[in-house]
Amino acid sequence: MATLIVANWKMSLSRQKSLELAEAMGEFSKSSKILTKDLAVALAPSALMLGEVGKGIAESGLGLAGQDCSELQEGSRTGDISAQVLKEYGCRYVIVGHSERRENQKETSEVVARKAEMAYQAGLTPIICIGESLQDREQGVAEQKLVQQLKESIPKLNYKMKRLIVAYEPIWSIGTGQVPTPSQIREVARLIGLTLNENFSFKRDNLQILYGGSVSPDNCEEITKIFGVNGLLVGGASLKYDQFVQIIERVSAQHINLIQMM
Ligand code: PGA
Repeated sequence: MATLIVANWKMSLSRQKSLELAEAMGEFSKSSKILTKDLAVALAPSALMLGEVGKGIAESGLGLAGQDCSELQEGSRTGDISAQVLKEYGCRYVIVGHSERRENQKETSEVVARKAEMAYQAGLTPIICIGESLQDREQGVAEQKLVQQLKESIPKLNYKMKRLIVAYEPIWSIGTGQVPTPSQIREVARLIGLTLNENFSFKRDNLQILYGGSVSPDNCEEITKIFGVNGLLVGGASLKYDQFVQIIERVSAQHINLIQMM
């Protein structure tokens, strides 16, 4: 499965800045030909910008992702956006259960699971986020919280899930510059694999684990080298062209080195 790097622009860019960055990223992708069957990159702009950003990156190989979708297919949900409409706008992925939404919109894991189910129904791949707080970690209940969140956030589908992307984003790491150690991340990746194996019927090959939280050009290689981690969800560093391009280039170079070593 291709390593996936997702740019989560959150609500950080104006329309003008979104379009400029999308165009620059599109140009970079086309001219560098860096995206291969081993490396995929997607941009998650604000929902209002999906159409224009989609046009800006057309033919560039870059994917488009929603930052959230409704837990309903359609109907009376003022202000919400359905997974189906995201699909119609050209999205391949949708982020669900980001800790900012769990916190600010009080989204429970059950709601997250319904959103993920809507995403699958619409033909999108959900990126299901989980993450523990600093308090959880300090109290020694991080693993327990992660397992519970994971179990409850995965939709109870009666068909085999095609592809499952779980993003591990420790809340204390988001936007803070603090990153767990590689062994802490490896341990959570192992825990995710184990929990899913025990509780859901799916093929291990279909699971992709992303890490998110203060990813930067300086730490991206170390993180993507961790066993079980196959991608990144990048917030702050994805807003700056130079930094995001460096992350993509470094992760790509790592792939090339690995292939040459084989
Ligand atoms: P950050 O955000 O890279 O700015 O820490 C990551 C995220 O919230 O997805």
